[in-house]
Amino acid sequence: TNATAGFEIGLKFSGLKPGDEVIAPAITFCSTISPALEMGAKVVLADIDPRTLNIDPEDVARKITSKTKVIMPVYIGGYPPDMDAIMKLAEENNISVVEDAAHAFGGSYKGKMSGTIGHFGSYSFHEVKNVNALGEGGIVVTNEPCGEDFPKARFVGFDIAHPIDKWLYDVVALKGKGGYYTAAGNHSATEIQAVALLSQIRRLRDIIAIRRRNAEYLNKRFEGIEGIVPCPLDTDDIKSTYHLYLFQLDPDKLKGDIQDFKKKLTEKGVTQVAHFAPLYRFSYMKQLGYDTEAIRKSCPKAEEVFLHRFTHLPLYPLTQQQLEYMADSVIEVVKEMRR
Ligand SMILES: Cc1ncc(COP(=O)(O)O)c(C=O)c1O
Repeated sequence: TNATAGFEIGLKFSGLKPGDEVIAPAITFCSTISPALEMGAKVVLADIDPRTLNIDPEDVARKITSKTKVIMPVYIGGYPPDMDAIMKLAEENNISVVEDAAHAFGGSYKGKMSGTIGHFGSYSFHEVKNVNALGEGGIVVTNEPCGEDFPKARFVGFDIAHPIDKWLYDVVALKGKGGYYTAAGNHSATEIQAVALLSQIRRLRDIIAIRRRNAEYLNKRFEGIEGIVPCPLDTDDIKSTYHLYLFQLDPDKLKGDIQDFKKKLTEKGVTQVAHFAPLYRFSYMKQLGYDTEAIRKSCPKAEEVFLHRFTHLPLYPLTQQQLEYMADSVIEVVKEMRR
């Protein structure tokens, strides 16, 4: 039904228990950590790589303790995090990796599909994603030997692949790394949603190609403009899904910073995607008793890029005219902000 349900399933199969620790990047969507919080785990936020906004493996290494059970790397905007480094840390410390690949369906990292590198990975097909399932949708995948129990996590332990007489009285507890657990969630989607998603998945390659072309167009327009840091594009190893365009400014070269830029761009009617902010700024962490000030101090790069450097521009199929208007407006605003 959604990526968040997939995180919950991955965490439960990973044997997450109250008091265990889960490391996630400081900047992501709020639901990356909600299931871990709900399960009574302690969430530890790692700082980010300011160039991609993805989790910084060096800070993860510093924050691993004997209680760390899971690391949750996130593919922000569809751009893969440094999965080799994360997997190495996970292996060395016997930790599970649950990938938040909500933005990353169809991307890849060193030849492997994004979301399929860790122990579990979860994708979102919510209506704002590159492909969607009529409003809400998700897929969770695993490399763990969960056997026949894995699909039963979809609906409270039922084996819905079989007729009722085969599963009646045989609704099972599911066996994860930490022993048996009761699957409480109903994460079923409808056939109509599945049909819609399948038809969109057939167009996935074209959809990503249009988004990539739009990102390349914006980078080209911004080339050589002092103060603009272009969006990271594909490399031999990395194929993004271009869910979002990561736009960054270098405030040292301009009067003002991204906050001024965002205001001025909004005045020109250009939408920006505002969901991605440091999670220690969200009420739930404070309400749950986290020392959010200490977490903020432990993630200085996240704080700096959020306050001064980045915003996300949309890449969804825009007309050429809209794309040009967006590029023109960005360039005008940055020129106005020249020192
Ligand atoms: C990075 C990230 N993770 C997780 C989610 C949650 O996805 P879903 O709505 O499918 O649960 C989102 C949704 O936008 C997201 O942006």
